[in-house]
Amino acid sequence: MRAQLKPDLAGGHAAAAAASLDQFARAKLAELERVHLRRSLVDTTRTDSLWVTRDGRRLLSFSCNDYLNLAQHPAVKEAAIAAIRRHGVGAGASRLVTGNHPLLGELEARLARLKQTEAACVFGSGYLASAGIIPALVGREDLVLVDELAHACLWAGARLARGTVLAFRHNDVRHAEALLVEHRGRHRHVLIATEGVFSMDGDLAPVPRLAALASRFDAWLMSDDAHGLGVLGNGRGSTFATAKKAEVALQMGTLSKAIGGYGAYLCASRPVIDLMHNRARTLIYSTGLPAALAAAAIAALDLIEREPAYAARPLAKAKAFTHMAGLPEAESPIVPVMIGSAEAALAASRLLLEEGFLAVAIRPPTVAEGTARLRLSFSALHPDGEIERLAELVRTRILAR
Ligand SMILES: Cc1ncc(COP(=O)(O)O)c(C=O)c1O
Repeated sequence: MRAQLKPDLAGGHAAAAAASLDQFARAKLAELERVHLRRSLVDTTRTDSLWVTRDGRRLLSFSCNDYLNLAQHPAVKEAAIAAIRRHGVGAGASRLVTGNHPLLGELEARLARLKQTEAACVFGSGYLASAGIIPALVGREDLVLVDELAHACLWAGARLARGTVLAFRHNDVRHAEALLVEHRGRHRHVLIATEGVFSMDGDLAPVPRLAALASRFDAWLMSDDAHGLGVLGNGRGSTFATAKKAEVALQMGTLSKAIGGYGAYLCASRPVIDLMHNRARTLIYSTGLPAALAAAAIAALDLIEREPAYAARPLAKAKAFTHMAGLPEAESPIVPVMIGSAEAALAASRLLLEEGFLAVAIRPPTVAEGTARLRLSFSALHPDGEIERLAELVRTRILAR
Protein backbone atom coordinates (compact mmCIF):
# COMPACT_ATOMS: atom_id res chain seq x y z
CA MET A 1 0.00 0.00 0.00
CA ARG A 2 2.67 2.47 1.06
CA ALA A 3 4.43 2.05 -2.31
CA GLN A 4 1.37 3.53 -3.99
CA LEU A 5 1.44 6.77 -1.98
CA LYS A 6 2.42 9.93 -3.83
CA PRO A 7 6.06 10.84 -3.10
CA ASP A 8 5.13 13.89 -0.96
CA LEU A 9 2.61 11.81 1.06
CA ALA A 10 5.06 8.92 1.48
CA GLY A 11 7.67 11.42 2.72
CA GLY A 12 5.14 12.74 5.24
CA HIS A 13 4.41 9.23 6.56
CA ALA A 14 8.12 8.47 6.85
CA ALA A 15 8.68 11.70 8.79
CA ALA A 16 5.76 10.90 11.11
CA ALA A 17 7.11 7.39 11.75
CA ALA A 18 10.59 8.77 12.48
CA ALA A 19 9.11 11.34 14.86
CA SER A 20 7.10 8.74 16.78
CA LEU A 21 10.18 6.52 17.01
CA ASP A 22 12.30 9.36 18.42
CA GLN A 23 9.51 10.33 20.78
CA PHE A 24 9.33 6.76 22.06
CA ALA A 25 13.11 6.64 22.59
CA ARG A 26 13.18 10.05 24.34
CA ALA A 27 10.35 9.10 26.69
CA LYS A 28 12.10 5.83 27.63
CA LEU A 29 15.37 7.64 28.26
CA ALA A 30 13.69 10.33 30.37
CA GLU A 31 12.13 7.64 32.55
CA LEU A 32 15.49 5.89 32.99
CA GLU A 33 17.09 9.23 33.88
CA ARG A 34 14.42 9.90 36.49
CA VAL A 35 15.16 6.63 38.33
CA HIS A 36 18.97 6.94 37.99
CA LEU A 37 19.14 4.01 35.59
CA ARG A 38 20.15 5.75 32.38
CA ARG A 39 23.42 4.43 30.95
CA SER A 40 25.84 6.21 28.66
CA LEU A 41 29.02 5.22 26.94
CA VAL A 42 32.12 6.92 28.34
CA ASP A 43 35.27 6.97 26.22
CA THR A 44 37.88 5.03 28.15
CA THR A 45 41.34 4.15 26.90
CA ARG A 46 43.25 1.32 28.49
CA THR A 47 46.86 2.14 27.98
CA ASP A 48 48.26 -0.62 30.13
CA SER A 49 46.75 -3.53 31.97
CA LEU A 50 45.68 -1.56 35.06
CA TRP A 51 45.37 2.12 34.29
CA VAL A 52 42.73 3.77 32.13
CA THR A 53 42.19 7.31 30.91
CA ARG A 54 38.74 8.88 31.19
CA ASP A 55 37.97 12.55 30.59
CA GLY A 56 41.71 13.25 30.60
CA ARG A 57 42.20 11.61 34.01
CA ARG A 58 44.34 8.58 34.72
CA LEU A 59 42.45 6.11 36.92
CA LEU A 60 43.34 2.76 38.43
CA SER A 61 40.67 0.41 37.16
CA PHE A 62 38.89 -2.07 39.40
CA SER A 63 36.25 -2.59 36.73
CA CYS A 64 38.05 -4.73 34.13
CA ASN A 65 37.78 -8.50 33.84
CA ASP A 66 41.35 -8.74 32.58
CA TYR A 67 42.24 -10.69 35.75
CA LEU A 68 45.67 -11.81 34.58
CA ASN A 69 46.52 -8.59 32.75
CA LEU A 70 46.96 -10.59 29.57
CA ALA A 71 45.15 -8.15 27.27
CA GLN A 72 48.37 -6.13 27.27
CA HIS A 73 50.87 -8.99 27.65
CA PRO A 74 53.60 -8.74 25.00
CA ALA A 75 53.40 -12.44 24.06
CA VAL A 76 49.61 -12.30 23.66
CA LYS A 77 49.75 -9.10 21.61
CA GLU A 78 52.57 -10.46 19.44
CA ALA A 79 50.62 -13.65 18.73
CA ALA A 80 47.61 -11.61 17.58
CA ILE A 81 49.72 -9.24 15.49
CA ALA A 82 51.60 -12.09 13.81
CA ALA A 83 48.29 -13.82 12.99
CA ILE A 84 46.86 -10.63 11.50
CA ARG A 85 49.99 -10.14 9.37
CA ARG A 86 49.72 -13.68 8.09
CA HIS A 87 45.97 -14.24 7.87
CA GLY A 88 44.36 -10.79 7.80
CA VAL A 89 41.74 -9.41 10.14
CA GLY A 90 38.30 -10.90 9.55
CA ALA A 91 37.35 -14.58 9.15
CA GLY A 92 35.43 -13.77 5.97
CA ALA A 93 32.48 -16.09 6.55
CA SER A 94 30.79 -18.51 8.93
CA ARG A 95 32.95 -21.37 10.14
CA LEU A 96 30.83 -23.76 8.07
CA VAL A 97 31.58 -21.82 4.90
CA THR A 98 35.16 -20.54 4.72
CA GLY A 99 35.67 -19.10 8.20
CA ASN A 100 37.05 -22.22 9.89
CA HIS A 101 40.69 -21.25 10.26
CA PRO A 102 43.00 -24.08 11.49
CA LEU A 103 43.95 -21.88 14.46
CA LEU A 104 40.38 -22.32 15.75
CA GLY A 105 40.87 -26.10 15.73
CA GLU A 106 44.20 -25.71 17.53
CA LEU A 107 42.56 -23.53 20.18
CA GLU A 108 39.71 -26.02 20.57
CA ALA A 109 42.17 -28.87 21.13
CA ARG A 110 43.91 -26.79 23.81
CA LEU A 111 40.65 -25.93 25.55
CA ALA A 112 39.43 -29.54 25.50
CA ARG A 113 42.74 -30.67 27.01
CA LEU A 114 42.58 -28.02 29.72
CA LYS A 115 38.98 -28.87 30.61
CA GLN A 116 39.49 -32.65 30.20
CA THR A 117 36.73 -33.11 27.67
CA GLU A 118 36.69 -35.00 24.36
CA ALA A 119 36.15 -31.87 22.30
CA ALA A 120 35.49 -28.15 22.26
CA CYS A 121 33.85 -25.60 20.04
CA VAL A 122 34.75 -21.92 19.80
CA PHE A 123 32.06 -19.25 19.33
CA GLY A 124 32.21 -15.54 18.50
CA SER A 125 31.39 -14.37 22.03
CA GLY A 126 29.97 -15.60 25.32
CA TYR A 127 26.54 -14.20 24.55
CA LEU A 128 26.54 -15.90 21.15
CA ALA A 129 27.73 -19.17 22.70
CA SER A 130 24.92 -19.34 25.20
CA ALA A 131 22.32 -18.22 22.67
CA GLY A 132 23.51 -21.02 20.38
CA ILE A 133 24.21 -23.89 22.77
CA ILE A 134 20.96 -24.01 24.75
CA PRO A 135 18.49 -23.95 21.83
CA ALA A 136 20.63 -26.55 20.03
CA LEU A 137 20.01 -28.97 22.89
CA VAL A 138 16.54 -28.26 24.21
CA GLY A 139 13.22 -27.31 22.63
CA ARG A 140 9.52 -26.82 23.21
CA GLU A 141 8.97 -30.06 25.11
CA ASP A 142 11.89 -29.48 27.43
CA LEU A 143 12.68 -27.68 30.68
CA VAL A 144 15.52 -25.28 31.48
CA LEU A 145 16.27 -24.52 35.13
CA VAL A 146 18.35 -21.37 35.54
CA ASP A 147 19.92 -19.92 38.68
CA GLU A 148 18.04 -16.69 39.33
CA LEU A 149 21.28 -14.65 39.30
CA ALA A 150 22.71 -16.24 36.17
CA HIS A 151 24.08 -14.00 33.43
CA ALA A 152 21.70 -12.49 30.88
CA CYS A 153 23.15 -14.68 28.12
CA LEU A 154 22.02 -17.87 29.89
CA TRP A 155 18.54 -16.43 30.21
CA ALA A 156 18.58 -15.42 26.55
CA GLY A 157 19.64 -18.92 25.49
CA ALA A 158 17.01 -20.52 27.70
CA ARG A 159 14.22 -18.31 26.32
CA LEU A 160 15.33 -18.81 22.72
CA ALA A 161 14.88 -22.55 23.23
CA ARG A 162 11.13 -21.90 23.59
CA GLY A 163 10.55 -24.59 26.20
CA THR A 164 9.61 -24.14 29.86
CA VAL A 165 12.07 -21.92 31.73
CA LEU A 166 12.09 -21.84 35.54
CA ALA A 167 14.39 -19.99 37.93
CA PHE A 168 15.77 -21.65 41.03
CA ARG A 169 16.82 -19.54 44.00
CA HIS A 170 20.44 -18.48 43.86
CA ASN A 171 22.74 -21.44 44.61
CA ASP A 172 19.84 -23.24 46.29
CA VAL A 173 20.27 -26.88 45.30
CA ARG A 174 17.27 -27.92 47.39
CA HIS A 175 15.05 -25.52 45.46
CA ALA A 176 16.38 -26.87 42.17
CA GLU A 177 15.65 -30.37 43.46
CA ALA A 178 12.09 -29.42 44.45
CA LEU A 179 11.48 -28.02 40.97
CA LEU A 180 12.81 -31.22 39.41
CA VAL A 181 10.60 -33.38 41.63
CA GLU A 182 7.60 -31.32 40.55
CA HIS A 183 8.33 -30.85 36.85
CA ARG A 184 10.81 -33.47 35.61
CA GLY A 185 8.17 -36.04 34.65
CA ARG A 186 6.46 -33.65 32.24
CA HIS A 187 9.53 -32.96 30.12
CA ARG A 188 11.61 -34.93 27.66
CA HIS A 189 14.95 -33.26 28.50
CA VAL A 190 16.09 -30.92 31.26
CA LEU A 191 19.04 -28.55 31.22
CA ILE A 192 20.31 -26.87 34.41
CA ALA A 193 22.22 -23.64 33.75
CA THR A 194 24.39 -21.78 36.21
CA GLU A 195 27.51 -19.66 36.36
CA GLY A 196 30.68 -21.17 37.81
CA VAL A 197 31.61 -17.80 39.32
CA PHE A 198 28.74 -15.32 39.53
CA SER A 199 29.74 -12.27 37.57
CA MET A 200 28.06 -9.65 39.75
CA ASP A 201 28.35 -11.40 43.13
CA GLY A 202 31.70 -13.15 42.94
CA ASP A 203 30.47 -16.26 44.72
CA LEU A 204 30.84 -19.79 43.34
CA ALA A 205 28.07 -22.15 42.30
CA PRO A 206 27.83 -25.44 44.23
CA VAL A 207 28.84 -27.19 41.02
CA PRO A 208 29.56 -30.68 42.46
CA ARG A 209 26.15 -30.75 44.20
CA LEU A 210 24.37 -29.49 41.09
CA ALA A 211 26.20 -32.15 39.06
CA ALA A 212 25.01 -34.88 41.46
CA LEU A 213 21.46 -33.50 41.28
CA ALA A 214 21.58 -33.41 37.48
CA SER A 215 22.68 -37.01 37.26
CA ARG A 216 19.92 -38.14 39.68
CA PHE A 217 17.25 -36.56 37.47
CA ASP A 218 18.82 -37.31 34.09
CA ALA A 219 19.36 -33.59 33.53
CA TRP A 220 22.25 -31.88 31.72
CA LEU A 221 24.36 -29.40 33.67
CA MET A 222 25.77 -26.35 31.90
CA SER A 223 28.18 -24.05 33.70
CA ASP A 224 29.19 -20.65 32.34
CA ASP A 225 32.69 -20.27 33.71
CA ALA A 226 33.47 -16.92 32.10
CA HIS A 227 34.99 -15.67 35.36
CA GLY A 228 36.58 -18.93 36.53
CA LEU A 229 38.83 -19.83 33.60
CA GLY A 230 42.40 -18.70 34.24
CA VAL A 231 41.89 -17.80 37.89
CA LEU A 232 40.44 -20.79 39.78
CA GLY A 233 41.44 -24.46 39.93
CA ASN A 234 45.06 -23.72 38.87
CA GLY A 235 43.72 -21.78 35.93
CA ARG A 236 41.43 -24.58 34.73
CA GLY A 237 38.30 -22.94 36.09
CA SER A 238 35.72 -23.43 38.79
CA THR A 239 34.93 -27.02 37.77
CA PHE A 240 38.43 -27.86 39.00
CA ALA A 241 38.32 -25.72 42.15
CA THR A 242 37.14 -28.53 44.43
CA ALA A 243 39.20 -31.54 45.60
CA LYS A 244 37.40 -33.78 43.10
CA LYS A 245 36.67 -32.39 39.62
CA ALA A 246 32.96 -31.70 39.20
CA GLU A 247 31.22 -33.60 36.40
CA VAL A 248 29.81 -30.85 34.21
CA ALA A 249 28.59 -32.09 30.83
CA LEU A 250 28.56 -28.63 29.25
CA GLN A 251 31.48 -26.41 30.27
CA MET A 252 31.04 -23.02 28.64
CA GLY A 253 33.17 -19.93 29.14
CA THR A 254 34.63 -16.90 27.44
CA LEU A 255 38.00 -15.80 26.14
CA SER A 256 37.34 -12.18 27.09
CA LYS A 257 38.13 -12.17 30.80
CA ALA A 258 41.34 -13.77 32.14
CA ILE A 259 42.30 -14.84 28.61
CA GLY A 260 42.44 -11.16 27.69
CA GLY A 261 40.88 -11.37 24.22
CA TYR A 262 37.44 -12.10 22.83
CA GLY A 263 35.38 -15.14 21.94
CA ALA A 264 33.94 -18.07 23.83
CA TYR A 265 33.90 -21.86 23.96
CA LEU A 266 31.97 -24.96 24.87
CA CYS A 267 33.91 -27.98 26.12
CA ALA A 268 31.88 -31.20 26.00
CA SER A 269 31.76 -34.70 24.49
CA ARG A 270 32.48 -35.25 20.79
CA PRO A 271 28.81 -35.91 19.83
CA VAL A 272 27.67 -32.73 21.61
CA ILE A 273 30.31 -30.65 19.84
CA ASP A 274 29.43 -32.24 16.48
CA LEU A 275 25.81 -31.37 17.17
CA MET A 276 26.83 -27.73 17.78
CA HIS A 277 28.36 -27.63 14.29
CA ASN A 278 24.98 -28.72 12.95
CA ARG A 279 22.46 -27.01 15.20
CA ALA A 280 23.95 -23.99 17.02
CA ARG A 281 22.52 -21.13 14.98
CA THR A 282 24.96 -18.55 16.39
CA LEU A 283 27.80 -20.68 15.07
CA ILE A 284 26.22 -21.58 11.74
CA TYR A 285 24.87 -18.15 10.82
CA SER A 286 27.58 -15.93 12.30
CA THR A 287 31.06 -15.11 11.01
CA GLY A 288 33.87 -17.17 12.53
CA LEU A 289 36.08 -15.80 15.31
CA PRO A 290 39.04 -13.96 13.73
CA ALA A 291 42.19 -16.10 13.63
CA ALA A 292 44.13 -13.41 15.53
CA LEU A 293 41.89 -13.89 18.55
CA ALA A 294 42.46 -17.64 18.46
CA ALA A 295 46.22 -17.04 18.29
CA ALA A 296 46.03 -14.62 21.23
CA ALA A 297 43.99 -17.11 23.28
CA ILE A 298 46.48 -19.90 22.58
CA ALA A 299 49.32 -17.64 23.76
CA ALA A 300 47.34 -16.76 26.91
CA LEU A 301 46.67 -20.45 27.64
CA ASP A 302 50.41 -21.13 27.25
CA LEU A 303 51.14 -18.52 29.93
CA ILE A 304 48.41 -19.80 32.27
CA GLU A 305 49.54 -23.41 31.98
CA ARG A 306 53.18 -22.44 32.51
CA GLU A 307 52.52 -20.33 35.63
CA PRO A 308 49.68 -21.64 37.80
CA ALA A 309 51.01 -19.59 40.76
CA TYR A 310 50.38 -16.39 38.75
CA ALA A 311 46.80 -17.55 38.10
CA ALA A 312 46.20 -17.66 41.86
CA ARG A 313 47.15 -14.01 42.39
CA PRO A 314 43.85 -12.21 41.56
CA LEU A 315 41.99 -14.25 44.17
CA ALA A 316 44.72 -13.63 46.75
CA LYS A 317 44.47 -9.86 46.08
CA ALA A 318 40.68 -9.95 46.37
CA LYS A 319 40.95 -11.82 49.68
CA ALA A 320 43.42 -9.25 51.02
CA PHE A 321 40.97 -6.49 50.04
CA THR A 322 37.94 -8.09 51.69
CA HIS A 323 39.95 -8.69 54.85
CA MET A 324 41.03 -5.02 55.01
CA ALA A 325 37.60 -3.65 54.07
CA GLY A 326 35.79 -5.83 56.61
CA LEU A 327 33.78 -7.69 53.96
CA PRO A 328 33.03 -11.43 53.73
CA GLU A 329 36.08 -13.24 52.34
CA ALA A 330 36.28 -13.19 48.55
CA GLU A 331 35.66 -16.50 46.77
CA SER A 332 36.84 -15.20 43.41
CA PRO A 333 38.54 -12.07 42.02
CA ILE A 334 35.11 -10.37 41.96
CA VAL A 335 34.02 -8.49 45.09
CA PRO A 336 30.64 -6.77 45.31
CA VAL A 337 30.32 -3.78 47.61
CA MET A 338 26.59 -3.71 48.23
CA ILE A 339 25.04 -0.25 48.33
CA GLY A 340 21.28 -0.51 47.72
CA SER A 341 19.81 2.30 45.65
CA ALA A 342 21.06 3.13 42.19
CA GLU A 343 21.53 6.76 43.21
CA ALA A 344 23.72 5.85 46.19
CA ALA A 345 25.75 3.42 44.08
CA LEU A 346 26.43 6.17 41.53
CA ALA A 347 27.48 8.50 44.37
CA ALA A 348 29.87 5.86 45.76
CA SER A 349 31.36 5.35 42.32
CA ARG A 350 31.86 9.13 41.95
CA LEU A 351 33.54 9.29 45.36
CA LEU A 352 36.08 6.66 44.29
CA LEU A 353 36.54 8.39 40.95
CA GLU A 354 37.60 11.55 42.79
CA GLU A 355 40.18 9.42 44.59
CA GLY A 356 41.56 8.08 41.30
CA PHE A 357 39.77 4.72 41.15
CA LEU A 358 37.46 3.43 38.43
CA ALA A 359 34.81 1.32 40.17
CA VAL A 360 31.69 1.35 38.04
CA ALA A 361 28.25 1.21 39.71
CA ILE A 362 26.17 -1.81 38.72
CA ARG A 363 22.46 -1.05 38.72
CA PRO A 364 19.17 -2.77 37.82
CA PRO A 365 18.30 -4.50 35.60
CA THR A 366 21.81 -6.01 35.65
CA VAL A 367 21.22 -6.71 39.35
CA ALA A 368 17.96 -6.92 41.32
CA GLU A 369 16.12 -3.80 42.49
CA GLY A 370 17.59 -2.46 45.74
CA THR A 371 20.91 -4.29 45.28
CA ALA A 372 22.88 -1.74 43.28
CA ARG A 373 26.55 -2.09 44.04
CA LEU A 374 30.11 -1.39 43.17
CA ARG A 375 31.53 -4.47 41.52
CA LEU A 376 35.28 -4.60 42.06
CA SER A 377 37.50 -6.96 40.14
CA PHE A 378 41.07 -7.68 41.16
CA SER A 379 43.91 -8.57 38.86
CA ALA A 380 47.28 -10.19 39.38
CA LEU A 381 49.12 -6.87 39.04
CA HIS A 382 47.05 -4.51 41.19
CA PRO A 383 49.55 -2.81 43.54
CA ASP A 384 49.08 -3.83 47.19
CA GLY A 385 49.36 -0.21 48.41
CA GLU A 386 46.49 0.88 46.16
CA ILE A 387 44.35 -2.07 47.26
CA GLU A 388 44.96 -0.97 50.84
CA ARG A 389 43.94 2.63 50.04
CA LEU A 390 40.80 1.43 48.24
CA ALA A 391 39.86 -0.82 51.17
CA GLU A 392 40.25 2.08 53.60
CA LEU A 393 38.01 4.32 51.46
CA VAL A 394 35.37 1.61 51.08
CA ARG A 395 35.41 0.83 54.82
CA THR A 396 35.38 4.39 56.13
CA ARG A 397 33.56 6.41 53.48
CA ILE A 398 31.22 4.03 51.69
CA LEU A 399 30.22 1.21 54.04
CA ALA A 400 30.27 3.35 57.20
CA ARG A 401 27.64 5.75 55.82
C1 LIG B 1 29.19 -14.86 33.17
C2 LIG B 1 29.25 -14.25 31.82
N1 LIG B 1 28.87 -14.99 30.77
C3 LIG B 1 28.91 -14.48 29.53
C4 LIG B 1 29.31 -13.20 29.29
C5 LIG B 1 29.25 -12.70 27.89
O1 LIG B 1 30.46 -12.92 27.27
P1 LIG B 1 30.87 -12.02 26.00
O2 LIG B 1 31.28 -10.71 26.55
O3 LIG B 1 31.99 -12.77 25.38
O4 LIG B 1 29.66 -11.93 25.14
C6 LIG B 1 29.73 -12.40 30.35
C7 LIG B 1 30.21 -11.03 30.18
O5 LIG B 1 30.65 -10.50 29.27
C8 LIG B 1 29.70 -12.94 31.64
O6 LIG B 1 30.05 -12.19 32.69
